[in-house]
Amino acid sequence: MRSLVILISGRGSNMQALLEANLPVDKITVISNNPNASGLIIAQQHSVETAVIDHRSFPDRESFDAALAEKIDTCKPKLIALAGFMRILSDRFVQHYEGRLINVHPSLLPAFTGLNTHSRALQEGVKIHGCTVHFVTSQLDHGPIVFQAAIPILPDDTEKTLASRVLKQEHRIYPQAVRWFMLDQLKILNHCVEVRKASVNDIVLHSPGLQE
Ligand code: GAR
Repeated sequence: MRSLVILISGRGSNMQALLEANLPVDKITVISNNPNASGLIIAQQHSVETAVIDHRSFPDRESFDAALAEKIDTCKPKLIALAGFMRILSDRFVQHYEGRLINVHPSLLPAFTGLNTHSRALQEGVKIHGCTVHFVTSQLDHGPIVFQAAIPILPDDTEKTLASRVLKQEHRIYPQAVRWFMLDQLKILNHCVEVRKASVNDIVLHSPGLQE
């Protein structure tokens, strides 16, 4: 059975993109560390099983991660997708799922790891920005890169306009990356990801013009 677990903390728009992508999966479970995450309502509207494991009920990171892993393991997932899951995960958790834990990050990694990626890109004056889907390793935002989308930074861009245009690309590349994984098309070799049997149309660099 191809089971997918999606971890969220808030709005859940990437989760929604995954739910609506008609992915080759048999079961999806959405888990949030935040009982008030609005993404939980979207998941329920899509008739997807949801669970909440509130990190504030645990004394430390390790005990929260252990409870989270226990719940995840009952789903027997082929893949765990972080979709705006705003918790740093312990090494033990990451190692337990290494090779089947994936994340979407709002920058062209390895540039702008961490938070506030859009304002930092504007401050640095970079001309190209974007988003990255990558496998998660113990080093924050440094795992093997699966897929990236690049967009131009326009002269009158603000943090808000940039975030919105990058998010649109996240919704495009994340489902494709998860589809590849589910169909066993991804292979990690020496920290690099090879996409097998992908059509040129799928992997071509997407560089949207000013209208997108
Ligand atoms: C997305 O932009 C995602 O890339 C980012 O949080 C947002 C969540 O939005 N994730 C990170 O910054 C993780 N380092 P969403 O809840 O609407 O998917």
